[in-house]
Amino acid sequence: MGALTYIKNFFGDPNVASVAPTSAAGVARVLNKMQFSPGQVIVEYGPGGGVFTKALLKKMTSDSRLIAIEQNQNFVDSLTGELSDPRLEIIQGSAEDVLTYLQERGIEGADYILSGIPFSLFPVDLKDRILNNTREALTPEGRFFVYQFLVSLSGPKNDISRKLKEHLEIVRSEVEMYCIPPLRIYESKVPDISG
Ligand SMILES: C[S@@+](CC[C@H](N)C(=O)[O-])C[C@H]1O[C@@H](n2cnc3c(N)ncnc32)[C@H](O)[C@@H]1O
Repeated sequence: MGALTYIKNFFGDPNVASVAPTSAAGVARVLNKMQFSPGQVIVEYGPGGGVFTKALLKKMTSDSRLIAIEQNQNFVDSLTGELSDPRLEIIQGSAEDVLTYLQERGIEGADYILSGIPFSLFPVDLKDRILNNTREALTPEGRFFVYQFLVSLSGPKNDISRKLKEHLEIVRSEVEMYCIPPLRIYESKVPDISG
């Protein structure tokens, strides 16, 4: 997808939330934390122009699956036209319905879920639904990555870390400065309730 088309989508849809895709350094920073092994299920929330999608497809094994959930129809159309890979399925819909999408496909759990959706713009109940369903959608060893602007669009108290801690356990938080704007990356997992 060209830069101009991306910018057009930004002006037409407030939930696109960024004038430019994540930089190569930002994408690498997240993917370097993942281990790609056979038969994985990876879910992506908000693929947009597909910078993560394309990088994931390069790293995934031939029998793994990538389910990309994108709300914006223009991005869905453009990704569908551009990427033809039997491991990839692009769904036009919302991240909050992740459980339904996995159930419909007979998938029991996701090994990784990556999210670039603008949580800071969402009402609290939507954040809660997405995070609750994300926890339910992960395998017990699964990981959830959130990348978002280092400076939250709607102020520090809306940083997703507070909400993340209510639903999941944050295992790592890092900053990637080689991105415009710089990114905060959270890695989280299903809390261990046995202890
Ligand atoms: C900041 S852009 C990130 C795009 C891309 N992942 C990247 O890193 O360049 C956010 C994306 O999330 C999508 N989005 C927003 N709300 C969503 C939701 N509830 N479910 C799925 N996608 C959503 C937007 O349409 C947009 O493509």
